Amino acid sequence: MKYRRVVVSRHGGPEVLQVIEEDIPEPKAGEVRVKVLAAGVSAYDLMFRRSGRLPGTPRVPFTPGEDVVGIVEELGAGVTAFQPGQMVAGGTFSLGVGGGYAEYVSMAAGEWVPVPSELDPVRAVCLVVNYVTAHVMLHRAAQVREGDRILVHGAAGGVGSALLDLGRQVGLEMFGTASKHNHHLVSAFGATPIDYRADDFVACVRQLTGDGVDAVFDPIGGARQLWRSYRALRRGGRLVWFGVAATRSHGLRIIPSTLLMRALLKILPDGRKVPSTPNAGKHVSETLAELIAQLASGKIDPVVAARIPLAEAARAHELLERGGVAGKIVLTAND
Ligand SMILES: NC(=O)c1ccc[n+]([C@@H]2O[C@H](COP(=O)([O-])OP(=O)(O)OC[C@H]3O[C@@H](n4cnc5c(N)ncnc54)[C@H](OP(=O)(O)O)[C@@H]3O)[C@@H](O)[C@H]2O)c1
Repeated sequence: MKYRRVVVSRHGGPEVLQVIEEDIPEPKAGEVRVKVLAAGVSAYDLMFRRSGRLPGTPRVPFTPGEDVVGIVEELGAGVTAFQPGQMVAGGTFSLGVGGGYAEYVSMAAGEWVPVPSELDPVRAVCLVVNYVTAHVMLHRAAQVREGDRILVHGAAGGVGSALLDLGRQVGLEMFGTASKHNHHLVSAFGATPIDYRADDFVACVRQLTGDGVDAVFDPIGGARQLWRSYRALRRGGRLVWFGVAATRSHGLRIIPSTLLMRALLKILPDGRKVPSTPNAGKHVSETLAELIAQLASGKIDPVVAARIPLAEAARAHELLERGGVAGKIVLTAND
């Protein structure tokens, strides 16, 4: 039997994404083959597609996609923990090359987490990377406590909106930078929006809080951006840097200066801290089950920006690349 998957055939614009057909691989011993219903699109997929120079980029041709939800179809030898027909979610980090933009994905049984059948797979897939990352940054890196004040950059984005959703649960006072047209989403999570394009976010935070915030979550990067995020902290505050979304506008050249700035900020003896960035991929299985339970009980509310058929992955990349998207773009398969 044949199945379809999307491949990055060479580095370049969204047009390099191609749909290919090949035989469905049999799951190996210990693996579970899943019929994919929803696959997340992330900023990393775009970075890996554009250029091979980013550390960790798989060799072309490769299938992007770090997060999937689907139905268990076939069990490899020795797998007893799952039943065919059961819904599951998983991150493809163990495969090393993405792999989510496909009609079928096979991975070791331990990489899959059960999802209650009544949940919407498109909303559930938002948890695998975005919410796990947000959870890890809030609780492991920044170690926030009830009543803390936080500033979230890219607050309307996939990870940013997840930070606000989880931060609301902990009872944090929240501020979020976003483009003006996304401010309604930031406000809907109970945060105060800041228009980073028109206003100086450091001045806004000082004006709104007096002495600054307890934690800043910065997935934007760039030396100037990190320095300004640091200045928005009050004494004892933590700057959690976890991404380089600014490469979209400034290219990969911002990465070395970002790393240098972070190293400098780490050694400044002024009572503010820059914790090391945890590897969110290592915490998926332990954190995902807890987040799925929260989705099932209505405690969290992932924002889906668009549902786009798998074969139109190039359109999904164009949409994310253009910017202004609120929430997560999800590819749907096997509809
Ligand atoms: N370390 C990890 O484990 C990990 C995991 C996942 C993601 N990440 C990182 O997180 C970043 C964001 O991922 P995502 O999937 O949430 O991306 P996304 O959905 O594309 O969101 C990115 C957001 O950044 C905003 N933005 C762009 N430039 C900005 C600036 N100068 N100041 C403030 N906001 C700005 C955009 O906001 P507007 O549209 O409102 O302008 C957009 O909402 C990625 O670049 C990736 O590097 C890291």
